[in-house]
Amino acid sequence: MTFFEATCTAPVNIAVVKYWGKRDTSLILPTNSSLSVTLSQDQLHSKTTIRASADFTSDRLWLNGIEESIEKNKRLVACLRETRALRAQIEAKDESAPKLSGLKIHICSENNFPTAAGLASSASGYACLVYTLSKLFELPLNASDLSIVARQGSGSACRSLFGGFVAWEMGEKEDGSDSRAVQVAPETHWPDLQALICVVSDEKKGTSSTEGMQLTVKTSALLQHRIKNVVPKRMEEMIAAIHNKDFPRFAELTMQDSNQFHAVCLDTYPPIFYMNDISRAIIRIISEYNKDGIKAAYTFDAGPNAVIYAPQQNMREIYAILSHYFPGHAFEDSLGLKKNDTVHALPQNF
Ligand code: ADP
Ligand code: DP6
Ligand code: CO
Repeated sequence: MTFFEATCTAPVNIAVVKYWGKRDTSLILPTNSSLSVTLSQDQLHSKTTIRASADFTSDRLWLNGIEESIEKNKRLVACLRETRALRAQIEAKDESAPKLSGLKIHICSENNFPTAAGLASSASGYACLVYTLSKLFELPLNASDLSIVARQGSGSACRSLFGGFVAWEMGEKEDGSDSRAVQVAPETHWPDLQALICVVSDEKKGTSSTEGMQLTVKTSALLQHRIKNVVPKRMEEMIAAIHNKDFPRFAELTMQDSNQFHAVCLDTYPPIFYMNDISRAIIRIISEYNKDGIKAAYTFDAGPNAVIYAPQQNMREIYAILSHYFPGHAFEDSLGLKKNDTVHALPQNF
């Protein structure tokens, strides 16, 4: 069998100003801008292999070793459609370019961390999918252009195309062409800032981010206050704190934004609970630890798992305190996208 193949890995990103709400659900245009830190892919990452062959009779997807339907997955179909159209343009211009746009593909992707548990698997997963497609199809796109495609897979995925500190600018245009990720500062800017991931539960969440946020858009008055009166100013303050490497300010804004995001979930009707008793205990422990000056910041995405940001010098102590109470997994961090030469175990008949 002749085939074309690419394998890549992509890291997760954890937002410090959260995205929660869409103004356009099919193009995935958000109701507010957001900002995140891309973690090191040495720890949490997705790894994706994509093969294109004239011998394949349909597009197929294996996620964490289990085959899933592609047709029902509108967002994955959108990413495929967009990247194939870009490949077709290349083939139209260059006679000698292999005709890949018309071939069926097989996708095999694995996350080395819990999927759909609030640790941003959709972010690394779709960033990886789109990045691997761009390598397979040799698309001449920069990270910001690719972020527009990844955004249509999962909103948060657009920010994983960059390392370091990344903003997703909500944009204004109806076609979404200005709703893209931009790098606020590279990973080298603040190497002293570290992330600790605390896996409180690896179970799949009860309400997906997609369903949860649209119920919030429909029912929460607090969300309207957040997007109009809170986020625009917070984005500016967060960018300034990052540029100045002002940890206490960065931490305060991060914790406040996580708190408000979960308040908005509670204001949703019926309410959505992503945090559990252990999550709340972590908040109490970090708040107590910060009593005489801010030394750590917690943040929780749409799940019970905590991410702690702190200067490197505090990490050992934080790790000791948290692992005393919660002896689960913990990973440390830093960033990037990588074309990977080692292929993972592929499913039979791949
Ligand atoms: P999370 O908090 O993990 O991001 P979401 O509810 O946002 O949870 O999204 C989880 C969904 O993202 C999964 O059910 C799956 O459809 C998709 N996903 C996760 N990982 C991958 C991957 N590696 N490749 C493709 N899709 C993925
Ligand atoms: C709480 O990007 O997973 O993690 O666009 O519907 O796929 P979809 O949602 P998703 O939502 C992420 C929500 C969040 C905050 C954030 O990452 O900014
Ligand atoms: Co997600």
